[in-house]
Amino acid sequence: MKYFLDSAKMDEIKEAYEYLGIDGVTTNPKHIMNSGKPFKKAIEDIAKWTEDQGFKSWKDFPVSVEIDPWLEDCDKILPMAREISKISPCFVIKIPSVYGGLKAARILEKEGIRTNLTLVFSPAQAILPAKAGCLFVSPFIGWKESNGEDCKKYIQDIVDIYRNYGYLRKTEIIAAAIRTPKQIVDCAVAGCDIVTCGLDVYKDSIKHPYTVQGLGTFRDAWDNTAKE
Ligand code: E4P
Repeated sequence: MKYFLDSAKMDEIKEAYEYLGIDGVTTNPKHIMNSGKPFKKAIEDIAKWTEDQGFKSWKDFPVSVEIDPWLEDCDKILPMAREISKISPCFVIKIPSVYGGLKAARILEKEGIRTNLTLVFSPAQAILPAKAGCLFVSPFIGWKESNGEDCKKYIQDIVDIYRNYGYLRKTEIIAAAIRTPKQIVDCAVAGCDIVTCGLDVYKDSIKHPYTVQGLGTFRDAWDNTAKE
């Protein structure tokens, strides 16, 4: 399963790449705002970093950049999507799952501009981007589970539907807004392609109380053993 970092902060992107070898980045308007930079500067900085790493295209290291969320008409989405895509060959255009967004994604994919349909909250919503040939679909997990839903079946249904119709591994499923290591595991068990979450969730997933306890045991043993 691929790990993407959900952030537009350069220090986090660099750290997650160096320590975890993340496979890509996803951003959204909230992450851009939290980077403290203007939109253009924030995405140009990420573009420059991908170039410095030697990534040639989205195939090497995809970076999802979301369009202005106020745009719902296809005719308005297309110019912005084309403009953003010119900034880096690594950029994948993230478009909300709305009627005009779907049409725009279909057109952009035909032009060779890869897309990520986002803000997906149901299996029915997830089928359409696959039919449109999108590179990614982003079903959100955390937001639903925060509202008391168990997302295991939701994500499993999407994986099963994709398998039934040959969409699996063509339109890759990014389980988004992951908040806990358990949600990462649920997505992995379901056969999801990718998870995207913040750096803290990945850091949490490395931790276990028995690891701490075991380290204590081994450190005691180390200290009580002659070295030569
Ligand atoms: C997904 O691609 C989104 O960027 C993201 O997961 C949205 O959720 P969050 O910002 O609340 O984590």
